[in-house]
Amino acid sequence: MRVLGIETTCDETAAAVVQLKPHGGGTILSNEIMSQIAEHAAYGGVVPEIAARAHVEVIDRLVERALADAGCDLADLDAIAAAAGPGLIGGVMVGLTTGKALALATGKPFVAVNHLEAHALTARLTDGIEFPYLLLLVSGGHTQLLAVKGVGDYQRLGTTMDDALGEAFDKVAKMLGLPYPGGPQVEKAAETGDSTRFDLPRPMLRRPNADFSLSGLKTAVRLELERRPRLSQQDVADLCASFQAAVVDVVVDRVRMALRQFATDLGAPTALVVAGGVAANGPIRRSLTRMSTETGLKLVLPPLSLCTDNGAMIAWAGIERLRAGFTDGMDFAPRPRWPLDLRAERVHNGKA
Ligand code: KG4
Ligand code: ZN
Repeated sequence: MRVLGIETTCDETAAAVVQLKPHGGGTILSNEIMSQIAEHAAYGGVVPEIAARAHVEVIDRLVERALADAGCDLADLDAIAAAAGPGLIGGVMVGLTTGKALALATGKPFVAVNHLEAHALTARLTDGIEFPYLLLLVSGGHTQLLAVKGVGDYQRLGTTMDDALGEAFDKVAKMLGLPYPGGPQVEKAAETGDSTRFDLPRPMLRRPNADFSLSGLKTAVRLELERRPRLSQQDVADLCASFQAAVVDVVVDRVRMALRQFATDLGAPTALVVAGGVAANGPIRRSLTRMSTETGLKLVLPPLSLCTDNGAMIAWAGIERLRAGFTDGMDFAPRPRWPLDLRAERVHNGKA
């Protein structure tokens, strides 16, 4: 089974071809990506209109390249998959329409993929792990702890009450005058900083659920800044290190809580999987590795190129959904919002 995957929900345009291995897991035959970071950097964040136009400009070429790299034709594919959300509507429309057009022209099945589900299933592409497992999804737009029970079967154990983790890194970086995207910059500055100099809060620590809240921590950094009209390079490094140390404590604590809840509701998970751009963060990776050694729970950290947005994860989610018997029609509409666990979402919004 071979599927083409298209990703355009945020600021990366990506296309890839993935093939199912005979005994589970997948082989990535090609994985093309074009990042728009440079186009958005001047604005300190992703500008939806610029993103949508940039996707339109490169998508055809990228699909051609993905097919050529994989050494296959459209005729060799079993299906076309495209991310249909959640994300920026203009961008989602570009990838979704391209995917539908290719499916229509070739008569192949079409699969509309939830971008979050694609992140959630990547560990099965790389490591072939079995359900159920615990997923920590930490990106610029999402911060969730999910029990991944099967294809299309998710239970949200925790989410953020305010900012996403990557967003908090980006906002702190911006306050400190560091360039976008801020996560890697904060991590780099923190290397020469003293993480004990500023006593920053650890929001939600030891709360008996697996939710996050990051705005208080961000505000605490801002208050420290306001007390210092002039910042030395050392101040910046120390603030970054103190902020990052607080984040690490919170992440480890929240994951522990989610594991406890997982054990009560579902028994033992097969693994802890980390996905999303923030999974690139060294101190977070190291502390989760330590926790995995202590608890004996297998930790899966997919390679960074598969943790951040990419086409291979969409192609793989397409394979998983196709195998589970799901395909979609040409009337599938783009979804700016598309939670994996609809029940948790309704409870969260007070509509249980
Ligand atoms: O998953 P991703 O590439 O894009 C989406 O948000 O979907 O994640 C990007 C986010 C940004 O907020 C970026 O600052 C953060 O991941 N990030 C990091 C690091 N590398 C990227 N945060 C902390 N430490 C890093 N090394
Ligand atoms: Zn993503």
